[in-house]
Amino acid sequence: MYPLIRNRRLRASQSIRRLVRETIMTPDDFLVPLFVVEGKNIKEEIASMPGQYRMSLNILANEVRELWKMGLCAVLLFVKVDDSLKDNKGTEALNANGLMQRAIKTVKEACPEMLVMTDVALDPFSSYGHDGIVGDGQILNDQTNEVLAYMSISHAKAGADFVAPSDMMDGRILTIREALDDEGLENTGIMSYAAKYASAYYGPFRDALDSAPVDVKNVPKDKKTYQMDPANRFEAIKEAQMDVDEGADIIMVKPGLPYLDIVRDIKNEIDVPIAVYQVSGEYAMLKAAASKGWLDHDAVMLEQLVAIKRAGANVIASYFAKDFVRTLG
Ligand code: PBG
Repeated sequence: MYPLIRNRRLRASQSIRRLVRETIMTPDDFLVPLFVVEGKNIKEEIASMPGQYRMSLNILANEVRELWKMGLCAVLLFVKVDDSLKDNKGTEALNANGLMQRAIKTVKEACPEMLVMTDVALDPFSSYGHDGIVGDGQILNDQTNEVLAYMSISHAKAGADFVAPSDMMDGRILTIREALDDEGLENTGIMSYAAKYASAYYGPFRDALDSAPVDVKNVPKDKKTYQMDPANRFEAIKEAQMDVDEGADIIMVKPGLPYLDIVRDIKNEIDVPIAVYQVSGEYAMLKAAASKGWLDHDAVMLEQLVAIKRAGANVIASYFAKDFVRTLG
């Protein structure tokens, strides 16, 4: 008891703080999201995500080599496809020579050891901007699962190490796991977006991929019938548990910072690695505030990242990955 115990002794210098620090960040913690487009030599900055780009395949090759040199070892791929290729069933997602399939091969050729994860959902391929097939004013669950399974097989055959279903349909992990195994792809992992909330923080991402739900009659205007209600907590544990039971290797909570209570709840209950996705809107907020001189960019970024890891993240999907590595000097 005070004055015999003085907690400030453990904070008295930088060296003692280093010695007793509980949470240490390294480049190994990061999964780097990347946006891919058709074309050559294209590197377009995304307006609402300063420092993030839509890249053509040849630029993507350079980018992954640079990431690897920086010590980053895993990427999460997203593609922006032309409107002319979109339909209700996401047919283009299954094209063996589609942009995603070529992007996977490009990364593996440029940097064979780079771990490749791919987003599995229909929204970038859907004429309605939904993660699933639309029918009778609803998002059809089981029909969507079938397409997601074929999509996963296609990504795995192109060389993806993990597929990352982000759609929140019921039962899709089981459907995908069985489909992969039937094809002899039992070594392909599944990172499930297990607790993905219907969040307004995804706005800049939907700008980046032009993937927002469209405003047409008889089509839901938002994703609230499949993504989770931000008010719910126990439901997240149930979702995560079911996905693990169905065969998920890694489970994800998304967005990040506003949902760290959920990360900790799941961490306490379930023994598989947890990924946390610090999403586009979180990135945009800090970039905007820092550009106005209202927040210290690097200090706030480091505080946010360490909070995500402290809460229980084993993997952090973050647009700040390169900024983080730069702070290491
Ligand atoms: C697509 C998907 C989304 C994100 C990742 N995968 C958007 C959405 O569900 O509408 C969001 C990522 C971000 O905001 O950074 N299913």
